[in-house]
Amino acid sequence: MTKRHPPPIGGESVFAENPQKFHRPFIRFPHEIASVPTMTNNTVVQNIQAPSVGTSARTAASKYEMANPRFWISHFQRNRLNRPEPTWDAPLSLPSSVVKLLVKSLEQYQLGDGGGPASLIAWNAETFRCSSEESKALVDLWFLEEKEHSRLLGGAVARLGGTPIQEHWSFSVFCGVRRWIGVDFELTVLLLTEIVSTIYYRLIQRHCQDEPIRAMCGLIMRDEAGHVAFHRARMALEGRKGKITYGAMWEAGFFLLGYAAATMLWVNHASALCVMGATTREFYTEIRKEIGDFIGDLRRETAAENAGA
Ligand SMILES: [Fe+2]
Ligand SMILES: [Fe+2]
Repeated sequence: MTKRHPPPIGGESVFAENPQKFHRPFIRFPHEIASVPTMTNNTVVQNIQAPSVGTSARTAASKYEMANPRFWISHFQRNRLNRPEPTWDAPLSLPSSVVKLLVKSLEQYQLGDGGGPASLIAWNAETFRCSSEESKALVDLWFLEEKEHSRLLGGAVARLGGTPIQEHWSFSVFCGVRRWIGVDFELTVLLLTEIVSTIYYRLIQRHCQDEPIRAMCGLIMRDEAGHVAFHRARMALEGRKGKITYGAMWEAGFFLLGYAAATMLWVNHASALCVMGATTREFYTEIRKEIGDFIGDLRRETAAENAGA
C-alpha cells in the first residue's frame, strides 16, 4: 500500500496549511490579494515587484496567458514567510554508509534544483516570460524559489561533509533538452522534473534519520507543490481555450515522459535512497500515483474552467 507522506512543515503558504486548497475551488480567485508582504527570510534577498495586474501591456501576438496571476504572485510572496531554517549544526548520527551515498546524491541535486541557470533557458524562453508583466513576475518568483532549493541543499551537502559540484552529465542532458526544444517543451520538462523530484524528497523525508535533512525536504516539497499547482492552473486555462485536450493520447505521452524523467532520477539516485531503506517498487508506485493524481486534477480543473467559461 502506498504510504502517505507527512505534511510539509511551517509557512504562510496556503498549501502548507492545507494541500487541498490548491485544488480547483480555491484557485477560483480570492479577491483579497493585493499587498506585498515583507520578506522575513534574510536568505532570500531579491525582491520582485508585483505588476499592476490587468494593466500590463501584453505583446500583441502572445499565445500565453497566466491563470489568475494575482493569486499566484501573492502565493509566491507569502510562501517566503515562516521558513524555519533546518538546524544544520545539530549532532549528526547517520551511518557512514548512508552519508557516503546521500551526500553524492544531494550534491547532484544542489546543482540540478536551482543551482544552475535559475531561469527558463529555452532558445525562445522570452516569448513566454515576457508575454506579460505578470508572466515575467511569476517566472522570476518561481525561479527564486528554485534558487532557494539549491541554497538549502547546499546546507545539507555541507552538513554531510560534501562539496558543491559545477557539472554532471545528467544536468548537461537536462539543460540541453530544455535549451534546444523550445519553451513549451521546457515547461513540460520542468513540470515533470518537479513531480518526480517531489518523490525524491518524499522518500528522503520518509527514510532519512536526520531531522535537518527531513526539514529541508519539507520546505522544498512545500514549494514544489505550489509549482506543480501553478503549472496545472496554466494548463487548465490552455485546455479551456481549446489549445489542447487532455485525452488518452496526451496522457500516454505525459506518462511516458514522466517515467523517462523518473528513470533518469532513479539511475542517479537509487543507491542513496535504497541505502536508507527505499525500494524501486516504492519509488515507481509513488511516481505512478503522483503523475496520475496530477492528470486527474488537471482534467477536473479544465472541466471547471470550461463550466465557468
Ligand atoms: Fe526545486
Ligand atoms: Fe520547482
